[in-house]
Amino acid sequence: MGYIKVLAFLALVALAKGQKNAVSHYYGEHNTSVIRNDDYVDAHRRQYAGNIWFYDFQINQFKEAYLERVNSLEYQKDALLYELVRVDEHLYPITLLSDFSKSCVQKYQPLIPQMSWAKSEVDRCISAASAQANNLISAMSSTNRTLQSHYATAFEREINTCKNKFNVTTSNYTMCVANAVAISNTYTLNNQNQFSNQMQAAKNSADVLVKTEQECTFGIYNTTLSRISEANTRIDGCLNGMDDCTNCKGHYCEETYLWPASHINPNNATMNNPWYGRNVTTGCLMLNIF
Ligand SMILES: *[C@@H]1O[C@H](CO)[C@@H](O)[C@H](O)[C@H]1NC(C)=O
Ligand SMILES: *[C@@H]1O[C@H](CO)[C@@H](O)[C@H](O)[C@H]1NC(C)=O
Ligand SMILES: *[C@@H]1O[C@H](CO)[C@@H](O)[C@H](O)[C@H]1NC(C)=O
Ligand SMILES: *[C@@H]1O[C@H](CO)[C@@H](O)[C@H](O)[C@H]1NC(C)=O
Ligand SMILES: *[C@@H]1O[C@H](CO)[C@@H](O)[C@H](O)[C@H]1NC(C)=O
Ligand SMILES: *[C@@H]1O[C@H](CO)[C@@H](O)[C@H](O)[C@H]1NC(C)=O
Ligand SMILES: *[C@@H]1O[C@H](CO)[C@@H](O)[C@H](O)[C@H]1NC(C)=O
Repeated sequence: MGYIKVLAFLALVALAKGQKNAVSHYYGEHNTSVIRNDDYVDAHRRQYAGNIWFYDFQINQFKEAYLERVNSLEYQKDALLYELVRVDEHLYPITLLSDFSKSCVQKYQPLIPQMSWAKSEVDRCISAASAQANNLISAMSSTNRTLQSHYATAFEREINTCKNKFNVTTSNYTMCVANAVAISNTYTLNNQNQFSNQMQAAKNSADVLVKTEQECTFGIYNTTLSRISEANTRIDGCLNGMDDCTNCKGHYCEETYLWPASHINPNNATMNNPWYGRNVTTGCLMLNIF
């Protein structure tokens, strides 16, 4: 649809150019008709409308493309929420094994972010970026307005001045109109240069905003996955009896010695040695008596 419109617009520009040649051809012959002058002005009005249409088209295309990039991170959110579902599915059966395993899971599961948290944080990253869409196009929209207003007021005023000043059947009128068109065309060219500079700047800003958005969602991703990993590690440690200790809060030994209670005999001077074969320089050894 948009593509067809662009072609139509280009055809219109070609038509307007043809009209201009036709008019210059009639200069000085004192044979320019009112009809031809009106056609000439109308052709330019159509071209001007086409310029505005093309601005509108480019601005909307740009905004749509930006929002599409911004919203593409929705898929990352889904992937992240899926990770959290998977963790739940992994931990739930462990809670069923025993009261002990259940207590280990309950102790460390709160480290894992809630789905609602992950969702709202990622949504925050996305909406921060999408909220910038109107700021990105504001300079271009203003340039669009300025040009439209030039066509609607300055250009039309010039044409009316020509009509009031000269008999429309004279070449003076034709010259006057041609001059008004030339002034508007110069104005258009400058305005278009300004517009393309603004478009370039908007594209650069969009890249920065999307990058910021990606870093924002990556932060949520990283935090979530790090916490899942930490919770898993701690739950595993707990299940292996590593923190089966109520009075030693703040103490945690990497090394654990599993010692069946049945093997302990306070009257046996030659009982098993937990340090046997171990690097005695480690700071701490935990005895897990079961
Ligand atoms: C205007 O020009 C056309 C063709 O160039 C010619 O046929 C016609 O007679 C001219 N009319 C006048 C009023 O000069
Ligand atoms: C550009 O200007 C035209 C005419 O005023 C307006 O209809 C259109 O909505 C404008 N487009 C944008 C994106 O501002
Ligand atoms: C305009 O010019 C035509 C012929 O050149 C003449 O008949 C007519 O009276 C003029 N009109 C005015 C308002 O001067
Ligand atoms: C129209 O142009 C001629 C020269 O082409 C000039 O002599 C004449 O004064 C002009 N008429 C008006 C009303 O400006
Ligand atoms: C990821 O998260 C961990 C733990 O919160 C943090 O130490 C690390 O610096 C983060 N990495 C990046 C690249 O943000
Ligand atoms: C003491 O313990 C060791 C190792 O478990 C065992 O071989 C030995 O028979 C025990 N001695 C006595 C007196 O129970
Ligand atoms: C004990 O472990 C430390 C660190 O892992 C190492 O530097 C040291 O050489 C080890 N000592 C012995 C006796 O194995």
